[in-house]
Amino acid sequence: MGMMKKSIRKLLYWFGYEVQKISKYSADHLAGKKRPVPVATPPPLGPVWPLPRQTRGLTDDEIRKEFVKFDMWHYTYAFEGGISFPVRHIKPDRLIDDPKRHAQRFRHFMPWLLDAQNGSFKGKRVLDIACNSGYWSIQCALLGAEVVGFDARPELIRQADLIKSIVGLTNVKFTVLDIKEMNPRSLNGTFDVVLNMGFLFHVSNPLETLQLSKAMSHKHLLLDTAVSTSKNPVFELRWEEPQDTWTACRAGIVVYPSRRAVEMMLMHCQVTDWLEIPVRSREIPPDYLNHRHASWLITV
Ligand SMILES: C[S@@+](CC[C@H](N)C(=O)[O-])C[C@H]1O[C@@H](n2cnc3c(N)ncnc32)[C@H](O)[C@@H]1O
Repeated sequence: MGMMKKSIRKLLYWFGYEVQKISKYSADHLAGKKRPVPVATPPPLGPVWPLPRQTRGLTDDEIRKEFVKFDMWHYTYAFEGGISFPVRHIKPDRLIDDPKRHAQRFRHFMPWLLDAQNGSFKGKRVLDIACNSGYWSIQCALLGAEVVGFDARPELIRQADLIKSIVGLTNVKFTVLDIKEMNPRSLNGTFDVVLNMGFLFHVSNPLETLQLSKAMSHKHLLLDTAVSTSKNPVFELRWEEPQDTWTACRAGIVVYPSRRAVEMMLMHCQVTDWLEIPVRSREIPPDYLNHRHASWLITV
């Protein structure tokens, strides 16, 4: 029986599927006190794409002129009317530059996050940590949330404000802030949803960053991070230079936690429970397929 299960699992893996128990884990469960609670898979959801444009807003030419003012763009952007812009990084990187990357990430974790809000972001306060040019903030605002996005790089906040003005949103605010300055006073209270995405592996103190992120939320935290592939609870140290707008904003050590290290940190932060979001299809960036990137939906 065991052999058969193993072969089926291998075969499915070969076709790009991974068999995972979809279950909620809690600190109690890890300590062996509770059985995992099975959760239902939410319906699929994709990003609003191309992005809508406000009527009587910037013309195609004006938008083009604004886009060329910046050397780097971390996301590809497409707007109604057939106008689009590619990713631009200093060092080309096949993984990071893939124009499908962020829509695939969206389809991976946003259905779970929306489901946890009972299917609607309306009236929810969302914080987007390290928002870059605001891709996630804009999507959450289009879903009806009141959003605050911040990033340490002023040029990225100028980009985010540009996208906001093209789309014509009033329910999203962008601000320049370093993670060290993030607290409920600097950001006007706590949030229903905190997005800590693509960021934890750009800091030298992931545990403190998780604690700060938890303190910003009164309900959910979405954690999405590159991870070390070690099976043990370890921190892998790397050196990062601030050469591009998707990296740490100063040179120094950054930490890749293993999945077990992430879960141990969540236990340490005493969150209520969490779910590692399962990989459900091959239409996902390869680093998620290869266990080098993972996402958790956390109830704080
Ligand atoms: C890989 S990008 C992630 C963007 C987005 N959250 C996502 O998941 O697509 C990392 C972002 O972290 C920002 N960042 C780096 N160090 C920061 C710091 N100390 N405080 C705030 N933002 C920082 C960078 O400017 C960059 O926009």
